[in-house]
Amino acid sequence: MKFQVKLGDVKSIKCDAVILNMFEGVKVPSGAAAVVDKALGNAISDLIKTGELKGKPNEIQVINTLGKLPARLVLVAGLGKKEEFDIDKLRNAMGEAVRALRQHNCKSAATILNDTVEGSVNATEAAAAVVEGCVLGSYQFKKHLTKKDEQKEIDELIILEKDTSKQNLIKKGINQGVIVSDAVILARNMVNEPANYMTPSHMAQIARETADKNGLDVTIMDRGQMEKEKMGALLGVAQGSSQPPKFIVLTYSGDASVKSSIGFIGKGLTFDSGGISLKPQDFMSDMKGDMAGGAVVIAAIGAIAALKLRINVTAIVPATENLPGGRALKPGEVLKASNGKTIEVVNTDAEGRLLLADALSYAVKKGISPIVDLATLTGACHVALGDLYAGLFANNQKVADNVMKAGKGAGELLWQLPLPEEYKELNKSDVADIKNSGGRYGGAITAALFLQEFVGKTPWVHLDIAAPFMSDKTKGILVKGATGFGVRTLISLAMILSKSK
Ligand code: BES
Ligand code: MN
Ligand code: ZN
Repeated sequence: MKFQVKLGDVKSIKCDAVILNMFEGVKVPSGAAAVVDKALGNAISDLIKTGELKGKPNEIQVINTLGKLPARLVLVAGLGKKEEFDIDKLRNAMGEAVRALRQHNCKSAATILNDTVEGSVNATEAAAAVVEGCVLGSYQFKKHLTKKDEQKEIDELIILEKDTSKQNLIKKGINQGVIVSDAVILARNMVNEPANYMTPSHMAQIARETADKNGLDVTIMDRGQMEKEKMGALLGVAQGSSQPPKFIVLTYSGDASVKSSIGFIGKGLTFDSGGISLKPQDFMSDMKGDMAGGAVVIAAIGAIAALKLRINVTAIVPATENLPGGRALKPGEVLKASNGKTIEVVNTDAEGRLLLADALSYAVKKGISPIVDLATLTGACHVALGDLYAGLFANNQKVADNVMKAGKGAGELLWQLPLPEEYKELNKSDVADIKNSGGRYGGAITAALFLQEFVGKTPWVHLDIAAPFMSDKTKGILVKGATGFGVRTLISLAMILSKSK
């Protein structure tokens, strides 16, 4: 999809559809909507009067212009109540709008930002949100369909703006929105990809391509190098699979004035069967997406480099499968992580924390700080917070607050959960330093407490994305399947940290 800003107005622009946004409860259209309303003989105000157009979030009304405007259709997208407006409402409204355009066989559309760009939202942010909404809302994963459908796709969106100084702000927003949404799409594609395609080696390949494209350094460790690093926990999980494990490290050097680097670590289980502690069959296929954290950090570091942010970032992805092969890890085995700690494996399905134990130890050893990890870690987090929220855990409130702030701007919902001293005993083992499951109650918390044992004093935030990595609905910018949750939070975080220097 192409995006451009043009001098022009809704009355004369030639395209398939004009997209207007409207706040909920508006009685009389104003701005661009008023102009269109007049040209269409009060079509918009009539729909408002009859209650067919309310401006609620996710609402779309399609009006045929019957030749009264050069555009064939006018789409009115609801933004919800004006006093509740934030940038995410605009993003989601565009997501809905773009799917409506597809249904109505439109290839080109134009929109205007003026009504929403007031107060706290600037033109750059608004333009980025429009782009993100369009790209993410129209996403489909069709790679493996052999029958190509005839469906028309929107290939051009024009943002109309008369003020030339604003035009530059909008251009900047378009550029940013394209980079960010491309990264989210990359993560979605990786997660949606079946496990026979998305192997650890293939993840490493994508990491290499991302590095080449964006000028990142890349190191891929294979089994032998992991043995040298004494990554016994990760290797334990990997031994049940015939796919070779990969330990992926990407680095972006955007700030030569400091040596330090922040770290993004992503769980990279390209398939999690549970291992010998086999999962039940329901939804097991979703576990092709157990590398979502890994996909997110690879995509995010690529975008951060493309945006040329003034910051140093290291992305780390321990990647393997968790399968019940003849050599697989058995419940009761004791493993030694690379920081020397021993772990009793009471449940081979609690494998994510084993991978992260070695990845966190590696980051700490390299002096990377702060660390943010993302992992589809526990079903318990899904039970605790429902479909939309990721659980946030932190040993440092300042970093936690920055991640929360980043999540807000990105429209990705985060909720902080505690790391209580009192629950640490649940992870105590009789035969090793720690065991890999603290039982059923507070499962997301005991998993996070386990991870905490491997970060030492390094400021660290853990995001459990077991719920929001996938969506079972198509709504706003979400399309059923992988969401790419976390990519936009990490990019916003890098923006916040690079600006605060
Ligand atoms: N990858 C799963 C968690 C998961 C489940 C993510 C569903 C997304 C959707 C993880 O490896 C796992 O199996 N966790 C166990 C931990 C338990 C054995 C302590 C779980 O949540 O049941
Ligand atoms: Mn598991
Ligand atoms: Zn898992």
